[in-house]
Amino acid sequence: MPTTSPISIGIGVLGYAGIAKAHLNALKKLPYIFWPSPVRFRLLGIGGRSLHGVEDAARRYGFEYGTTEWRRLTDDPRVGLFINCAPNDAHAEPCLAAAAHGKHLLCEKPLARDAREARRMWEGVQRSRIRHQVSYNYRFVPAVRLAREMIQAGDLGEIIHFRTRYTDDTLSDPATPHTWRQEKRRAGSGAVGDIASHVLDLARFLVGELKGVAGLSRIVVPRRPVAPGSRQTKPVDVEDVYAGVLEFTNRAMGTLEVSTFCLGRKNSLTFEVNGRRGSLCFNLERLNELEVFRAEPRGRRDRGFKTILVTDEDHPYGGAWWPPGHILGWEHAFVHQLSHLVKAIVGQEAVAPLAADFHDGYVNAVLCDALLEAAKRGKYVRLKPPQRRTDGNTA
Ligand SMILES: NC(=O)c1ccc[n+]([C@@H]2O[C@H](COP(=O)([O-])OP(=O)(O)OC[C@H]3O[C@@H](n4cnc5c(N)ncnc54)[C@H](O)[C@@H]3O)[C@@H](O)[C@H]2O)c1
Repeated sequence: MPTTSPISIGIGVLGYAGIAKAHLNALKKLPYIFWPSPVRFRLLGIGGRSLHGVEDAARRYGFEYGTTEWRRLTDDPRVGLFINCAPNDAHAEPCLAAAAHGKHLLCEKPLARDAREARRMWEGVQRSRIRHQVSYNYRFVPAVRLAREMIQAGDLGEIIHFRTRYTDDTLSDPATPHTWRQEKRRAGSGAVGDIASHVLDLARFLVGELKGVAGLSRIVVPRRPVAPGSRQTKPVDVEDVYAGVLEFTNRAMGTLEVSTFCLGRKNSLTFEVNGRRGSLCFNLERLNELEVFRAEPRGRRDRGFKTILVTDEDHPYGGAWWPPGHILGWEHAFVHQLSHLVKAIVGQEAVAPLAADFHDGYVNAVLCDALLEAAKRGKYVRLKPPQRRTDGNTA
């Protein structure tokens, strides 16, 4: 039974379409699934560009108001947590304004359009005593957390390889209309910031910091219609696909492939880690499972990869939802990441290293810029080691 009454946190959410739905679902579920909850959410304002859209979203999700002015959310003194689910060009100013008013932050990835903007955001939040988290939600998939725990416990021994691929077919059809994602001014980059940023975050989360990168990129469809069926087109000025090579500071080597032109692939995120004593394999389409291979003494004939169903009570987040074997889905990671953030807010605990904070968002943006530079110059790009953090957001 709860010994203290839950703290009320006023919520402002920018964006109601796309990924916002996963955050809105998490806001609804967290207080009753993670019981007794340390918080009660007061859903105050939801923002976006269309008046009809925000008013409809406010009714649908139970917010007190909808607004097309993001400043109404960042200025609202009752908002304690600001969740930014807007496109990449609307991350920096609203987040910095909210931080200046002392609001805690959960911002969608990539934190910013480039490393310069991300650095400004990281420096901005350091001036206020807030908790800041970037929505790298795959860190909160139980099998991914188990992979990290096994690697950190030394189960795999020295890591030799990290191999990752994040592919879908969302842009395979040249008739698919142009959106903010194909515009450098709004998105910062294409496949790199949009999907490579996720697997770069996992590379750091699982294996460690990067020392250098190299790679190739390509724009596959250089112009797209401005609207479905339109003959009028707009140029695409960001990369559609990227293939890269990663070098870690611990000498591990990595490869990365990201593309939205892989027919038949939907949200296919995979990684494999090979160490001297074993290997791990993860596939988002089977996200409850982790494949584990341990080098066994010679003579055992049942050697091979084993599939671990990561739903037992002693697995990460085990027992929080359902009994063992009652599997979870993609959306549960958003509940986990929100739970992590509110615990940090209530207990004044660190957000990192289990969640990505704005410093991680900045380091990620440095990596994305380096991948783009490597492809542009056709050269290996060496990275400086990330600076130490100085705020209370890291344990
Ligand atoms: N974590 C993930 O797995 C994941 C998945 C998809 C998208 N994202 C990220 O989420 C963000 C939004 O992507 P999406 O796919 O939901 O986009 P979207 O285009 O589907 O939705 C964007 C929302 O922001 C609002 N908006 C648009 N321009 C705005 C502006 N200038 N000011 C204020 N609000 C504005 C729109 O009204 C809409 O509600 C991006 O940063 C994207 O990279 C993350």
